[in-house]
Amino acid sequence: MAVVVEKLTGFTGAEIMGLDLRVLDAEVAGLLLECLALHHVVIVRDQQLTLDEQKAVTEVFGPLVTLPYVDPLPDDDQVIAVLKEADEVDVGVFGGDWHSDFSFLANPPAGSVLAAHELPPYGGDTVWANQVMAHRTLPQSLREIVDDADAVHVGKPYGVRWAPPVEERSSASIGMRRGDPDADLDRLHPAVITVPESDEQALFVNPIYTTRLAHLTEAESAPILAELYQHATRPDVSYRHRWRPGDVAIWNNRTTMHYATNDYDGHRRLLYRTTFQREPPTR
Ligand code: SIN
Repeated sequence: MAVVVEKLTGFTGAEIMGLDLRVLDAEVAGLLLECLALHHVVIVRDQQLTLDEQKAVTEVFGPLVTLPYVDPLPDDDQVIAVLKEADEVDVGVFGGDWHSDFSFLANPPAGSVLAAHELPPYGGDTVWANQVMAHRTLPQSLREIVDDADAVHVGKPYGVRWAPPVEERSSASIGMRRGDPDADLDRLHPAVITVPESDEQALFVNPIYTTRLAHLTEAESAPILAELYQHATRPDVSYRHRWRPGDVAIWNNRTTMHYATNDYDGHRRLLYRTTFQREPPTR
């Protein structure tokens, strides 16, 4: 079968058809890198990858990362199970608000690979929003505020000061280390970063981890950040993925935010996630 790439929306996501991700030769690796650079999210359906094969796909994009704070699989610290059990009702889900993963780290992950294994009969979609387009279409008044600004990021869910109330915490099936004062530290990143692959600029702030713009107080930042998030998550710049077992999604964590929808209480959902690294983001 010939390999075909089809855009999934105007600005976010492409599906590659006719690909077997177990065969990772230089041509396939080149195509994957090119598609991720152009489309920010890449979907490949109908894959039956072992965890080792998923890790090999991940390494096409960069070295594998062992994430802090989230318990990995007992026998593999480079893989996390994104799991919500059927009997976990009225709880949050992992990633259940707009975010880029672990942006509060000094070097936030460059991207992730998520492979679907068990899915609810409906719901549990993942939504990505393209932050290059978000920046490109920012009103001039907001651009003037963010273009040269730094933003403060804090590991709120894992710290002390910002720890979410019990009823808002995500499903107990994902073990998380909480209460670490180190996660409350302010970490600065440019609010607008340069994308090395394209030299484009991307907005790099998110509601889970960004507390404020560095030159402003939290109170001063709040209305500006709210306006930025409203602009940056519009359906025009987003792609919503309806998962099927065997789907593999790869995304750029620096040029997108994502959101795991939580609308499938009573059903089990299991995906495996691996994460890759690159140089830290810069202005
Ligand atoms: C995440 O990586 O934030 C979770 C995505 C998902 O479960 O859809």
